[in-house]
Amino acid sequence: MKILVTGGAGYIGSHACVVLAARGHEVVVVDNHSNSSPQVLTRIAQLTGAPVVASTVDLRDAVGLARLFAEHRFEAVMHFAALKVVADSIARPQEYESNNVGGTASLLAAMKQASVSRLVFSSSAAVYDATASIQVGEDAPLGAGHPYGQSKLSCEHLIAQQANETADFHAVNLRYFNPVGAHPSGLLGEDPHGTPTNLMPYVSQVAVGQRARLPIFGDDYATPDGTGVRDYLHVMDLARAHADALDFLVRERRSLTANLGTGQGVSVLELVQAFERVSGRAVPYDIVARRAGDVAALYADPSLAQRVLGWRAELDLEAMCRDAWHWQSRNPQGYATS
Ligand SMILES: NC(=O)c1ccc[n+]([C@@H]2O[C@H](COP(=O)([O-])OP(=O)(O)OC[C@H]3O[C@@H](n4cnc5c(N)ncnc54)[C@H](O)[C@@H]3O)[C@@H](O)[C@H]2O)c1
Repeated sequence: MKILVTGGAGYIGSHACVVLAARGHEVVVVDNHSNSSPQVLTRIAQLTGAPVVASTVDLRDAVGLARLFAEHRFEAVMHFAALKVVADSIARPQEYESNNVGGTASLLAAMKQASVSRLVFSSSAAVYDATASIQVGEDAPLGAGHPYGQSKLSCEHLIAQQANETADFHAVNLRYFNPVGAHPSGLLGEDPHGTPTNLMPYVSQVAVGQRARLPIFGDDYATPDGTGVRDYLHVMDLARAHADALDFLVRERRSLTANLGTGQGVSVLELVQAFERVSGRAVPYDIVARRAGDVAALYADPSLAQRVLGWRAELDLEAMCRDAWHWQSRNPQGYATS
C-alpha cells in the first residue's frame, strides 16, 4: 500500500517507516521538521535501500496538504505528527491545541476530500485519568491532567466524528505507554532537543557523558523500591504494531482503540540498573523532589491488542536498554553529529 506517514522524520514515525517498507509498503513522509532533522530521512533510506519520498509541509497548511494528496493516491495514513512534551504543553497550551488538534482536523479534511479511508493514529496513555487506576484497560476513566493529553483526546473525538459521518472511514487509535529504545542498527533513535523530559534518553545521555547525573523524581512512592513504575515498550515493537493495525483495517473494516504496552511495570531504578548492565557505564543519580502530577505506578493492560491485532510486545528491558545505548554511543550528539 502507499501510505502517508505524518511526522515520519520523528522518533516513532521513522522506525515505523522502516517496518512498513520491510512489509512491502511504499511510504511518503510529511513533516515540518519542528522536532526532527531531515538527516533522519537519509538514515531511513540507508536502512530500506531506497530514497524516501518526503515533503516539508505543516499539517495545518491545507493547501500544501491538498497538493500532496493530489500528487499521490494514498491508501492509508499513519498520523504521528504532534507536539508531545507535557511540561511544554502546560507552558504553551494554545500551541498544542493548534498543532495537535488543528493539524489533525486539517489532515482529516484532506483525507475526506481525497476519499482516503484508513487511519492509524498515535494516541497516548496520557488520555487516561492517571489517578484512577494502576493497570489501565481501554475502558479505564479518561481525563488527561494536562493540555498534551487533552489534545490527544480531542483528536480521538475528531477521528470518531469522521468515522461516524463517513461511510467506510475507519481508524485505529493506538494508545502508547512509554516508547523507548532504538533501531538495532544504531542508525535511528530518540534525539530530543535540549534537556530530555523522558527517562531513557536522559539515562543514555548521562551514560555517554553528555550530562553529569540523572535526577530521579522521588523515591518514596508506594512501589517496591520507592521510585515510579511505568510500562516501557521497545520502539520496534511499537512500529510493528502500526503495520499490524493497518492489516486489521484492511481485514476487518472497522475502527478500534487499543493500548500498546508490555503490561509489565518497571521502576526507574530497575531501568537504570538494566542500562548500567548492558552499557557497562555508570549512571550516577540524585533523588530529588517528586514532580507535580506524577503517579506512583501506571502500566497497560495490552490484552485487547493481543486479541484483536494479534500483537504483543516481544522485546524485553535488556533489549530496550541495549538498543538505546547502541544508538546513543554511535550518535553521542544525536543526528547533529552526522
Ligand atoms: N514518544 C512518546 O513517549 C510518545 C508516547 C505516547 C504517544 N506519542 C505520540 O506519538 C507520536 C510520535 O511521537 P514521537 O516521540 O515520534 O515525537 P517526535 O517529536 O519525535 O515526532 C513527531 C514529528 O512530527 C513532526 N511534526 C510536529 N508537528 C507537525 C505539524 N504540524 N506538521 C508536520 N509535522 C509535524 C515533528 O517535526 C516530528 O518530526 C506523537 O503523536 C506523540 O504524541 C509519543
